[in-house]
Formats: sequence, C-alpha cells, structure tokens
Amino acid sequence: MQLTDIDLVDPDTYVGGIPFEWFEWLRHHAPVAWHPEPAPNRGFWSVVRYDDLVRVHMDWDRFSSEKGAVALEELDDEQLRVRQTMLESDPPRHGELRRITSKRLSARGVGRYEDWIREVARDVLDRALPMGEFDFVAEISRELPIRFLCSILSVPQEDAPALIHWGDQMIANQDPDLAAVVVDREDTEAYRLLPFRSPTAYEVWAYADRQRELRLGTPSDDVIGALVLAQSEGTLTEADYHNYFSLLMIAGNETTRHTISSGMLALLSHPEQLRHLQEHPDAIPTATEEILRWATPVMHFRRTATADTELAGVPIKEGDKVVTWYVSANRDETMFPEPNRFDVTRQPNEHVTFGGGGPHFCLGAHLARLETRILFQELLPRLRSIELAGPVSRIRSNFVNGLKRLPVRIHAA
Ligand code: HEM
Repeated sequence: MQLTDIDLVDPDTYVGGIPFEWFEWLRHHAPVAWHPEPAPNRGFWSVVRYDDLVRVHMDWDRFSSEKGAVALEELDDEQLRVRQTMLESDPPRHGELRRITSKRLSARGVGRYEDWIREVARDVLDRALPMGEFDFVAEISRELPIRFLCSILSVPQEDAPALIHWGDQMIANQDPDLAAVVVDREDTEAYRLLPFRSPTAYEVWAYADRQRELRLGTPSDDVIGALVLAQSEGTLTEADYHNYFSLLMIAGNETTRHTISSGMLALLSHPEQLRHLQEHPDAIPTATEEILRWATPVMHFRRTATADTELAGVPIKEGDKVVTWYVSANRDETMFPEPNRFDVTRQPNEHVTFGGGGPHFCLGAHLARLETRILFQELLPRLRSIELAGPVSRIRSNFVNGLKRLPVRIHAA
C-alpha cells in the first residue's frame, strides 16, 4: 500500500465500511500525513494515532477550533462569523457559550431524566418488538435519541418526526437517500452561509424562533429557556441563538442513533458477547463504553494551526488544517490491545468517541451514555433471539459513521 492509494475524503469510500486497513497502515507508516483534497480546498494533515490526537485536542491554543472551523470545508471570514457555534470557538468565548447549557447537560443534570428515559425506551420497544421483523434503525435507534432530546429541550414529543427529518437533511448532507441537497453533487453556493450548507437550516431557525416566542412571556427552566435568557442578556446574538439551537438538535440526534444501531449490529455479529450481557446485565455499563468505541459515530474533527509547529516530528505550517481521526485512534493498538476485537468486558477503555479531552469534549457525553446504557438494559432481557433479516446499508459520508438500515428478525422473550 502507498499513501497515494488512500482517499479519506471521498464519501463513497465509507459506503462499504470504514477502511480500517488504511488507518492501520497510516498509523504505522505515516501517522501525520499530508492528504490532498479536491479544489477549492487545499488539503490537510491527517492525524491517526491516539496520542497525537489527544495532543491536538488538548493544545487548543496551537490547534485552534476558531481560526478555520472544525469540518473539512474551508470557510471564509464571513462564513466563519455567521456559522460560528461553541464548536468553532476558542476560549474564552468558547467557555461563555458552553456555560449557558453545561449544567443542564452534566451527569447530575441528565441523571434527573433517567426514569423518564427508561419509560420512553420501554414505550419504543413495546411498539417495535411485536412487529417481529423490522428495520432497527427506523423503529428503535432513530426514535429514541430525538424523543429524549425533545424532553431535554422541553419541546412537544409530536415534533420529534420533524426534528429527525431536519437532522438527517443537515448532517447526512452527502447522502442522496437522506438529504434533498447533496453538497458534493450539486451547487450549494446559495447556502454557503448556512450550517452544513443546508437550506433546512431556515426551517430549524423558524422552529427555534417559535420556541423562543413561547418562552418570552413565561421564562422556563429548560435548555431553550437558558438560550433565550442568554440572548436577552446579550451573551448570544440572533445568529448565535439559531446556531446554538441547530447544534444541539443535530449533535443530540444522529450520533446517539448511530451508536445504538452499530452497537446492535456488533452484538448481532458477536452472539457470544450478546449472551454474556444477557447473563450478566450488570456488565452493560462497561459494554456501553465498548459499543461507543466500536461505533465511533463522528469520524473526525478538524483544527487549524495558529503558528508554525510540529506533530510527531512532522513540521506543520501556520494556517494548515489538521484533521484528527477518532475512527483510527479508537483502533490504535498502542492504546487498545487487540483493537479489532469487539469485547464487551474491555477495561480500561479510554476511547475518544467524544473527543480527545480539552475544552470541546462532547457536551452531550453524559446524555449519550445514559441513553445507550438504558436502551440495551431494556432491550437485551426482552430478546430470545435476534438475527439479520436483510442487507445492512451505511450512510454515504466522510464525517458521520452510521447505518441507514439494519433489518432484523426478533423473537421476543
Ligand atoms: C454517541 C453520541 C455522541 C457522540 C459520538 C458525540 C461526539 C462528539 C464529538 C467527537 C465532539 C467534539 C469533541 C472535540 O472536538 O473535542 C462533540 C462535541 C459536542 N457534542 Fe457530542 N456527541 C454525541 C452526543 C451528543 C449529544 C446527545 C449532545 C447534546 C445533547 C451533544 C452535544 C455536543 C456539543 C454541544 C458539542 C460541542 C462541545 C464544545 O465545542 O465544547 N453530543 N460531540
């Protein structure tokens, strides 16, 4: 294999599965490698080892999130300004934004929802399992995270289908089956100032405006109420409010969905591990971490070098894009013995599915862990058997690692 054989940018690369053999080759032969990109982008440094990824994430001063966004797309100053969220901010502004919602999404903040989340999980399973044969993504993994998010945001459960639809349109913007506007296949210049270059942002913002109106007269003690208050105090501009709302809606929707689907597929493909968990339900919290490592729903995020520097001995110039690959770091053999083995008892399991530490560590990590654990705690005792009932299909994306369809046949216990 050679470096020129490897194309990590083409979304079609990932339709058949993550190219783990490429990442393994890169970790051993070119851990910080220059990766060309189609114009107008200029290319990036690809960081694939665990330790290097953590160094980049911790060193926010040298590897900025604000100087050039966090996705592969290169943004000009105007785009950066109007599309900025906490993800694309460095301290101290980043802290100001994050503090608006961080308490509500802390372990204690989301812990209050545990019983409610369990009830929703039971409700979704009660409806899905009697079908016997169904698409696990459509009936279970897609439903749960958005219904939980509706309650965290205090918006009506009836709005869940719209929120799911909007999330798909925006984050799966490279997949023609999920998004009406496909970024690498059509001219999206008219949408250059919108998140994910997606016109769906207008619908999300109109929804966010309606939610704000509902709270203006009667301040509410929920996440949107906190955003509305921050706007009235001048911490958020109108654009900040819209972008914050969109970020929470997207981040809290797709990622957990893909974790649940990939976790189910992993257990299906490793029946002895499924059996182990059914016999030892107390092992599900540990298994949740392995499911998160295995699933790695966000493949990469990017930083931009703020000065000439080096990483693993490789010189990096000011302004260069540095892309950190969670999908590779989570299989780094120096960190995870037998990294390609799915092992629900794996401990320690310091995966980087939620980021490599540093200020941007996923704000929803507690919620995502709670949702995933509860779903499997509720589902596994109810399964007498589960098998694949058709071909599995994956999302076309170089950013999200997820399943579109997971047809299963289930005999309930
Ligand atoms: C399994 C599910 C999830 C995964 C894999 C995931 C992954 C990530 C990753 C990789 C980051 C960036 C870390 C970095 O750059 O250092 C991130 C940030 C973020 N996530 Fe999550 N996430 C998940 C669930 C959630 C949920 C449920 C929410 C919200 C309700 C959420 C909200 C956020 C926010 C707001 C940020 C930006 C944090 C910041 O910039 O300070 N995420 N997430």
